[in-house]
Amino acid sequence: MNWREDAKKMAAVKAVSHITDGFVVGLGSGTTVTYALQEIAKRIAEEELHILGIPTSHQTYYLALKYHIPLTTLDLHPQLNMAIDGADQVDNSLDMIKGMGGALTREKIVASASKKNIIAIDETKLAEKLGTKQPVPIEVTPFALPTVDAKLRKLGSKPLLRKAKRKLGPVITDNGNFILDTDFGPIDNPKKLNQTLKMIPGVVETGLFIEIANIVYVGGRKTVRKLE
Ligand code: 5RP
Repeated sequence: MNWREDAKKMAAVKAVSHITDGFVVGLGSGTTVTYALQEIAKRIAEEELHILGIPTSHQTYYLALKYHIPLTTLDLHPQLNMAIDGADQVDNSLDMIKGMGGALTREKIVASASKKNIIAIDETKLAEKLGTKQPVPIEVTPFALPTVDAKLRKLGSKPLLRKAKRKLGPVITDNGNFILDTDFGPIDNPKKLNQTLKMIPGVVETGLFIEIANIVYVGGRKTVRKLE
């Protein structure tokens, strides 16, 4: 494994250490979360830990089945003890850009229902300002693609429809929508931008996760730092 994979794994293990018996846990999506799922499976086997997970994507759902992590739904558990997730970029206020894996909408819904949100990243994800060399993924209902695209361009950004790999045409999210990876450059006020974007009809959700993370574990080459 290269150092980034090790760093993600170390950070994910720290995040999982917050889980205690009886917890309902939001399970984010992505490669870092995959390490967290492996660690949860290990703790279930070794400690006879009883937890229930709520997955945020088809990817996580199938991984949870593979690792025998018991699952529940928001219908049965609309409030979660905590959620674990990765991120694409994190700033000094612990605001984040998420969604390069396309699971932003369910991730934000589950995060909003969790008492605590614990994020695991490797240190390359840290940035002084969100948006620096990183687009903001925006989930859009397909009918509204042209109108949302035009409104985003009016805001001065450059939206790019995410293309699927090994399928013709755009990525279709787990919710049946498109994603516009939207370059705003370095963002001065992520909270205000998020509010502006959410006002555009047809925008389902944005990858700006504002005032959501409680703790961020940052994996480096040798150690893990805790930001809170
Ligand atoms: C998916 C996400 C992921 O958390 C984010 O893309 C980070 O993924 P990885 O852990 O693979 O770097 O937001 O929608």
